[in-house]
Amino acid sequence: MELLIEKIKNEGTVLSSSVLKVDSFLNHQIDPRLMDEIGKEFAGRFAHSGITKILTIESSGIAPAVMTGLRLNVPVVFARKRKSLTLVNDLITASVYSFTKEENSEISVSSHYLSEDDRVLIIDDFLANGQAALGLAEIANKAKATVAGIGILIEKGFQDGGSTLREKGYRVESLAIISSLENGLVSFEQPTTE
Ligand code: G4P
Ligand code: NA
Ligand code: NA
Repeated sequence: MELLIEKIKNEGTVLSSSVLKVDSFLNHQIDPRLMDEIGKEFAGRFAHSGITKILTIESSGIAPAVMTGLRLNVPVVFARKRKSLTLVNDLITASVYSFTKEENSEISVSSHYLSEDDRVLIIDDFLANGQAALGLAEIANKAKATVAGIGILIEKGFQDGGSTLREKGYRVESLAIISSLENGLVSFEQPTTE
C-alpha cells in the first residue's frame, strides 16, 4: 500500500537492525486519515471472505481494526493483555511468547464475543515473530470460530512470523513488507498482491 509505505519512508525511524519506530502515526500518535485508508484497503482485500468479526490485540491494533470493522460493517473485538476488573468470567485465553521480553504473557477475550458462526479477520500493526497473531488465532480456534485471514500493517519480512503463519495455511495480507532495516535504512519488498 503506497500511502503506508510513503508514511514509513517519511516518518519512520530505524532504531536498530530489527526495530522500526513509527510513533508519529501508529504506535503513539495516530493518523486517523491513514487508518481510514488502511481500513478501506483491508475491507477491499477481504470483501469476499464472509468476515463477521475483526479480532485484534490492544493497543496499537485497535485503530486500524476499528476502521476495517467500520468498512466491513462488523464488530471489532480486542484481546486484553491484562485482566480487566469487570471482565472475569468466561474468558478464552492464549499464552503469547514475547521474543523481545523473553517471557510468556496471557491474552484474553470474553467468550461472549466470539462464536462458532464467526469468520474472523485478525488485524495487527506489526508482524515480527507472529506470536501475537498465533495467540489470536488460538483464541478464535478455542471459540470454534474460523480464521478467514490475517491483515498486517507492517510485516518485517526478515523475521519468521510471515512464513510461520503462511505455512500454517493462513491467508496473510500485509500492507507494507520490510525486507531489511540494515545500516539505518528501510528497504521494502516488492508488493505481490496489489
Ligand atoms: P510478535 O507478536 O510478532 O511475535 O512480536 P513481538 O512479541 O516481538 O512484539 C512485541 C511488541 O512489539 C508488539 O507490540 C509488536 O507489535 C511490537 N513490535 C514488533 N516489532 C516491532 C517493530 O519493529 N517496531 C515497532 N514499533 N513495534 C514492533 P506491543 O508491545 O503489543 O505494543 P502495542 O500494541 O501496545 O503498541
Ligand atoms: Na506495537
Ligand atoms: Na501490536
